[in-house]
Amino acid sequence: MIPMSRREMLKTAGTGAALLAMPTLSLSAADEKPKLFELPKLPYAFDALEPHIDAKTMEIHHDRHHQTYVDNLNKAVAGTEWAGKSIVEIITNLSKIPEIKRAAIRNNGGGHYNHSLFWQMMSPKGGKPT
Ligand SMILES: [Fe+2]
Repeated sequence: MIPMSRREMLKTAGTGAALLAMPTLSLSAADEKPKLFELPKLPYAFDALEPHIDAKTMEIHHDRHHQTYVDNLNKAVAGTEWAGKSIVEIITNLSKIPEIKRAAIRNNGGGHYNHSLFWQMMSPKGGKPT
């Protein structure tokens, strides 16, 4: 056995620990993907607004229209610097988005934002503007 000073032993242990940690760190960085936009859950049942808005209309607008906006927005921002940004940050900076992506991001981002707002503004209990 080779005699080792306390300093040498700590240095060796530290290097070993750093090497063990490195693959984990680089793998997590490589696996890290920007957060995708998601369809928000409807805060009430599809039929909660009847008789004013029927359940089928709500289902179509939430599950189909809104989901399509979310999916197309995710496709439009994929691979750009806008992936992972909030919808508010994106729609308030439309002029900075390259023209080739701008229409798809504006239309689908606007559809996602507006529908998200509608689901919160409408209520089965009615109410008054705030
Ligand atoms: Fe809609």
